[in-house]
Amino acid sequence: MIPVSKPIISSEDIRLVTDAVSSGWVSSQGAYIERFEREFADFCGVRHCVAVSNGTVAIHLALKVLNIGRGDEVIVPDLTFVATANAVVLAEATPVFADVRHSDWCLDPASVESLITPRTRAIIPVHLYGHPAAMDELRSLAQKYDLKIIEDAAEAHGADYRGRKVGGLGDCATFSFYGNKIITTGEGGAITTDSAEVAQRARFLRDHGMSKDRRYWHTEVGYNYRMTNLQAALGVAQLAKIGAFLQERTRILESYRFHLERHGLTLNPHLAAMRPVNWITCVLLEGVSREERDTVIARLYANGIDTRPFFYPLSALPMYERKSSPVSENLSSRGINLPTYPGLSDSDIERICRALLGLIQK
Ligand SMILES: Cc1ncc(COP(=O)(O)O)c(C=O)c1O
Repeated sequence: MIPVSKPIISSEDIRLVTDAVSSGWVSSQGAYIERFEREFADFCGVRHCVAVSNGTVAIHLALKVLNIGRGDEVIVPDLTFVATANAVVLAEATPVFADVRHSDWCLDPASVESLITPRTRAIIPVHLYGHPAAMDELRSLAQKYDLKIIEDAAEAHGADYRGRKVGGLGDCATFSFYGNKIITTGEGGAITTDSAEVAQRARFLRDHGMSKDRRYWHTEVGYNYRMTNLQAALGVAQLAKIGAFLQERTRILESYRFHLERHGLTLNPHLAAMRPVNWITCVLLEGVSREERDTVIARLYANGIDTRPFFYPLSALPMYERKSSPVSENLSSRGINLPTYPGLSDSDIERICRALLGLIQK
């Protein structure tokens, strides 16, 4: 079975995690946490990084830091992983679903503007599948309507928007280091920001709202959203290899493009002036229903090839049920994510493409 993704764990990863375990600092104190935060901030080109326990709580914490809560509306893309909207609900605010664009599969600024009300407080652009969202246009909207921007960069470590890395393009950004992400800490996440105030407040709320100068003196209800030293050790080792990981993922996408685009299939978007990363290779089938797309996925699986469907639009999910967004629905029903991980061989990619083309050309 060719998996859809897998983490790449080397002897250096094991060495650093073993070092963290042996040091006795197994919880959320220890040298690797600060080191990971410093190195990930440098990688993103921002001043601060606050490591947390996963990418979902990173978004929740970002919302709390920006004082967004009950009665507030937050605009998120309809096409994203459910965590983006769930974190808004966790903060007791209301997620509002804007459509995405065909050109980049990310938030459509026109759709966002049409949904802004006096209660709108923030926008969460998601850099979906590694392609940066339209940050200039969204930042102009944020300025015009006095809104905050939290980038959800869970799928886009290292992506470049007009010469600047994602992670430093809004009030703050959030990342995930889940096992299928570009780098992993097992479970894990981070908030990145240039604002010392945002970073300081994130650290405070991450650790039960405890006073910095007075132990066990808590001035607000906070959370335990800390990352462990073990996770951070893995993160440090993974981060050292991120350049090679990204290069490998680009090679993989180029190889898929070579085999599939000449058959008229659309793969990951790539707008001019952007340098997306290939978190996961995407292909849109032409002229198929959702059911037919799902049959292709099942047949690939029977052929020893694991793939996955695009996310459902959040507006289609039972707990959200809203008016559907046409572009999100269209992409969602036709999209398949293909195996993508460093080390996936050209011959495996050829086999995957042959199997896929065999199924859709019948
Ligand atoms: C777009 C997006 N946002 C948020 C998350 C949540 O991250 P985590 O799984 O680390 O909680 C993920 C992925 O898992 C994601 O893909």
